[in-house]
Amino acid sequence: MVGSSARESEETGQGGKIDRPPTRRGKFITFEGIDGAGKSTHIDAAIDLLRSEGFKVVSTREPGGTPLGEKLRELVLHEPMHLETETLLMFAARREHIVCVIEPALLRGDWVVCDRFTDATYAYQGGGRGLDVAKIETLERWVHGNLQPDLTFLFDLSTTVAQWRIQTQGKDTDRFEQEKADFHARVREAYLSRASRFRRFCVLDADQTRDEIKKLIEESVLSYCSQ
Ligand SMILES: Nc1ncnc2c1ncn2[C@@H]1O[C@H](COP(=O)(O)OP(=O)(O)O)[C@@H](O)[C@H]1O
Ligand SMILES: [Mg+2]
Repeated sequence: MVGSSARESEETGQGGKIDRPPTRRGKFITFEGIDGAGKSTHIDAAIDLLRSEGFKVVSTREPGGTPLGEKLRELVLHEPMHLETETLLMFAARREHIVCVIEPALLRGDWVVCDRFTDATYAYQGGGRGLDVAKIETLERWVHGNLQPDLTFLFDLSTTVAQWRIQTQGKDTDRFEQEKADFHARVREAYLSRASRFRRFCVLDADQTRDEIKKLIEESVLSYCSQ
């Protein structure tokens, strides 16, 4: 009976007992850090490594990750708005993302690797813009209850180096990247404060070469997989 679906097992009429082992829930890994710290540069290598280890991996990002979420992303990254509106839109996109993508994937046993999640709301809207953290906590409880990342890579970098990287990459900047250095310094501090509270964080010194950081991430991912 191993390998048959629960429905098939129930339909056998053998006392209604489902003898299929429960699917092992996948793991949820997030990448966090200030703009320019190197998250997007390194996320694919981590995903490739997990796939080479035999895991099915869903690669996604926030805000975004669904068709509606990507539309909301465009709004929050480029449209001026009130801080509370910005926060609510982030959580609206997140709810859609969790229901449509993250939870189904984890329940299938896939791993989910996400470029930013709720830590970013604490860092940007809380630390950077000064929104009352209690409001973020309320929305967090409402929108994702017990769901938390299992492992979070925090790319820690000085705002000076991060700004230099953003300016030299020559892309159009968004509302957050356009903020001044003191905003990014507060975001960084808020991230570090969360990292000191939650054991799921792995803080990386992002002021190293790409190869050095890639090696550190690969070591951490392999060590996490072997637990
Ligand atoms: N270790 C590194 N050393 C130098 N430049 C880097 C490094 N990691 C990323 N970059 C560059 O910095 C810029 C921002 O990187 P990115 O991965 O987009 O940051 P994030 O996604 O955290 O905002 C890109 O131009 C990228 O090529
Ligand atoms: Mg990025």
